[in-house]
Amino acid sequence: MSQTLTITRPDDWHLHLRDGEMLKGVLPETTRDFGRAIIMPNLVPPVVTANDAVAYRDRILAAMPEGAEFTPLMTLYLTESTDAADVAAAHASGLVTAVKLYPAGATTNSASGVTNFDKVQGVLEKMAEIGMPLCVHGEVTDPSVDIFDREAVFIDRVLDPLRRRVPGLRVVMEHITTADGVAYVMANDADLGATITTHHLIINRNHILVGGIKPHYYCLPIAKREEHRHALVDAATSGDARFFLGTDSAPHTDPNKESACGCAGVFSATNTMSCLAHVFEQANALDKLEGFASLNGPAFYGLAPNAGQTTLTKHADPVAFPAKIVTGDGDVTLFDPGFPLYWTT
Ligand code: NCD
Ligand code: ZN
Repeated sequence: MSQTLTITRPDDWHLHLRDGEMLKGVLPETTRDFGRAIIMPNLVPPVVTANDAVAYRDRILAAMPEGAEFTPLMTLYLTESTDAADVAAAHASGLVTAVKLYPAGATTNSASGVTNFDKVQGVLEKMAEIGMPLCVHGEVTDPSVDIFDREAVFIDRVLDPLRRRVPGLRVVMEHITTADGVAYVMANDADLGATITTHHLIINRNHILVGGIKPHYYCLPIAKREEHRHALVDAATSGDARFFLGTDSAPHTDPNKESACGCAGVFSATNTMSCLAHVFEQANALDKLEGFASLNGPAFYGLAPNAGQTTLTKHADPVAFPAKIVTGDGDVTLFDPGFPLYWTT
């Protein structure tokens, strides 16, 4: 008899859907397994105002596959000229769930991000007042800081001072990649949460660099040492409600990845639940998967869990996922965990 696990339908608390043909191609990969997702605003140009968010949400809804049950949770891209009243009104109307902070230049399409944090103090204070979460890309951009240290340095130089300047602000440290990130969350209160990606639970920096460069494992924040991956697995499987799933599934076409200057981003929407079941099973923590993928995220955001359920089945033989997703913009390579997968949704 095959083994099964039934959980509340999961959500993805950090997702890149892009726009146009790419959006059409990748959206079904998320709507199959996820009830909701926090939609990243780093389009070109970014989703900055409530009006931008309405228009983007409408484009997502227009691209939904027939019969899909999926709610996009919209975010606004914080700039130094973001208007606090516009943000508050967008949150009050239910249109926008969170605001995203990118340090200027930290990652793909982040040129309009924040350089001078004094300029966003008013917006952050308003968000603390109304209980609206801030999603943070936690890496410094100082060229003198080594790329593998940028998350740890960000916590000390930017995140901790920011949280002290705006008491009560609810913050999600996104896609944490280090033991330092895990420790910082654990040392704080329930106003601070963190998302963890599927791929950071599986790969370390050797996967990117040993035996030839593997562009499809290159993402930001970059995967760190094995000891950091262990800390992430421990956090994700601990049952601590401050840690929840954000895949950071970030599609780029193969030519844009397999290039002399390849884009950062791992595309994992299609096989994330299969990979997670494997990781949690290996950690003897299958009973914690529902908390991580389906319960802790909504609790942090003050939302009810999804009403529906998902049953995962473990097969006797490895299951096949497509190597690539075909989109109108070109092929997108799916995350390869490097081991056989046995679970399906
Ligand atoms: C993301 C993208 O491609 O938009 N890339 C990535 O490596 N994660 C941007 C981001 O979330 O940093
Ligand atoms: Zn991202």
